[in-house]
Amino acid sequence: MALPSASLARRCFIAGNWKMNKTVADSLTLVRELRNAISQVRDRVEVAIAPPFTALHPVARALEDSNIALAGQNCHASDSGAFTGEIAAPMLKELGCSYVILGHSERRQFFGETDAGVNRKTAAVLKAGMLPIICVGETLEEREGGKTLSVVETQVKGCLQGFAAAEGAKFVIAYEPVWAIGTGKVATTRQAQEVHAHIRALLTGIWNADTAQQIRIQYGGSVKPDNAAELLAQTDIDGALVGGASLKAADFSAIVKAKG
Ligand code: PGA
Repeated sequence: MALPSASLARRCFIAGNWKMNKTVADSLTLVRELRNAISQVRDRVEVAIAPPFTALHPVARALEDSNIALAGQNCHASDSGAFTGEIAAPMLKELGCSYVILGHSERRQFFGETDAGVNRKTAAVLKAGMLPIICVGETLEEREGGKTLSVVETQVKGCLQGFAAAEGAKFVIAYEPVWAIGTGKVATTRQAQEVHAHIRALLTGIWNADTAQQIRIQYGGSVKPDNAAELLAQTDIDGALVGGASLKAADFSAIVKAKG
């Protein structure tokens, strides 16, 4: 019997990044709608949502016995300590998180997050028993300056430095061109696939081909129900990190169901 191809072996992963939106009451309404909308989607697609910290605990309870995983939007690199206003990875784990989004471009742009910082946070997330969704992506200026692949290369190498292949195989990378986030300007499938293939080649160099073939690379940036299927059909696009469209159950569930 033929072995499944490497791309078939990677389970599509759709994650919703709610950012700084939704009170607890609003979060619970959205979760109820989502549970109904995607209850039939079992094996083909993995689904996670990242509500704001304040809603994680009630949302975790509302997700019990569902097929939706929970993710944090950020964490601190230390397990505990005098870091006013910060949240540690073990705290997210305790609330039921399986994933933590790290290095989102809004964190990089507004909160000074660096590749070295993401690298340390990745170690904290693993130590706490969760998995990272590591975000990379170029700005419009960098793309127009022909620097996309080199910028992404620096970010990928900086964030992933020092991890063993066995750890890396479970990481999720999200390629999110900054100019496509929240702007309605989605990258063309060709632009996205080119960078995804480049990232996979980088992962082969960092670890090895087997590991690189296991790692899921999500695309993020204005993913909507009407463009999701085409993006998800690309060889190296293994899912999506969805912002705006994850705030509406109908839109997010349509994206979850878009993988053919
Ligand atoms: P968007 O955000 O879908 O609203 O463009 C994506 C993200 O920031 O992860």
